[in-house]
Amino acid sequence: MPLITWRGADGTEIGAQVVPGTNLMKAAVAAGVPGIHGDCGGALACATCHVVAPGDWADRLGRPGVMEDEMLDMVEGERTPTSRLSCQIIAEDDLDGLVLAVPEAAR
Ligand code: FES
Repeated sequence: MPLITWRGADGTEIGAQVVPGTNLMKAAVAAGVPGIHGDCGGALACATCHVVAPGDWADRLGRPGVMEDEMLDMVEGERTPTSRLSCQIIAEDDLDGLVLAVPEAAR
């Protein structure tokens, strides 16, 4: 199982071994990552699962789909070139070691 780490704006890190096939929003909520809410349950309707991928991982994660790209314009805080909605990232062994930044939470 890949180890995924979420790093908050204050530098706090939470890591979890994630079962392959699980989306990273659900994994973050299960791990209690602050700032990841997943209000829509992964239906691409809330943008409360915003994360920022490291630049050198962007290609491995793939590009956002059309609907994800549109929802990324709705995120609180700043959208970056490597912003993703974590409900659209599916855990797989190749993602072992991924560290995702969680932008400052508004709530
Ligand atoms: S959980 Fe709502 S868009 Fe990702």
